[in-house]
Amino acid sequence: MKKKYIIGNWKMYPDTVSEARRIFSDIKKKTSLLKKVLVVIAPSFGHVGLFEGKGTKSCALGAQDVFYEEKGSFTGQVSAGQLSSLGVTYCIVGHSAKRAIGETDEEIAKKISLLLKAKITPVVCIGESVRDVHGEYLAILENQIKAVFARYSGDEVKKCIIAYEPIWAIGKNSGGAMKPTDIHETMLFIRKILSQKYGKEDAFVVPVLYGGSVDETNALSVVKEGMVDGLLIGRESLKAESFNAITRLIDTI
Ligand code: PGA
Repeated sequence: MKKKYIIGNWKMYPDTVSEARRIFSDIKKKTSLLKKVLVVIAPSFGHVGLFEGKGTKSCALGAQDVFYEEKGSFTGQVSAGQLSSLGVTYCIVGHSAKRAIGETDEEIAKKISLLLKAKITPVVCIGESVRDVHGEYLAILENQIKAVFARYSGDEVKKCIIAYEPIWAIGKNSGGAMKPTDIHETMLFIRKILSQKYGKEDAFVVPVLYGGSVDETNALSVVKEGMVDGLLIGRESLKAESFNAITRLIDTI
C-alpha cells in the first residue's frame, strides 16, 4: 500500500526549544496509530539536532534545506552528511521562501544529488507565483521540473518527492488554498511532464504532494478530490492538535 505523506514545515518556528520539544512529542505520539500516513517533521536547523535519532517509521525527521556543496569551509551552511548523521531522512529543497532569496534551479539540482547520495529523500518544491489567465503558469511549472531534474534518471527521480506549492496559496486561511479540482488538474499536468521524460510507469511512482493553506477543514477534499499523494503543511504543523486531526482524517482515506 502506498502511504500518504504529511510533511510539517516548521519554517523559523517555534521560538523556544521547549515548545519545539512539546510539539514534536505531541505529534509523534499519535503517529503510531496511523496506518496509511507517514508523517515527516521538518524543524529549523537550530532545532533539528534536538530530535537526533528520534525519527521513527511513522514519524520521520526532516530538514528544510541543505547546502549544495558536500564539504568545505562554508560558514552558515549545513551539509547532507551532517543531516544524515542526525537521523534526517527527508529534506525540503526549492521552497518558494528559499527561491525568493535567490536559490536557483541549478542549486536545487545539486542539492538533490547530495541528498540522494546521503540517502535522504529530497522533497522538491515547485510552484507558480500567480495563476495568470493565459496559462503561463504551466510553462513555469514545466521549466522548474525540467531544470531541477535535467540530469537525473527515472530511477533517481523515483527516489524524490515533488511538492506542488502555488506561492499565491501559501500562508492564507483555508479559503485561500487552491481548489481541489484545480489541484487535480495541476497534478495531471505534473505527471504529464514527468511521463514525457521518464515514461508513464516511473512518472506515477513519484509521490506528488500539495502545499498551501491546508488545515483541518480542507485537508480531506484536497487529498481526495485533488488526488494528491500527501500534503506539505506550514502553519498548521505547529499546532499539534490540528495537525494530528489532519493526519487522522487522511488516514481514513
Ligand atoms: P502553509 O505553508 O501551510 O502555512 O500555507 C506551506 C509551506 O510554505 O510549505
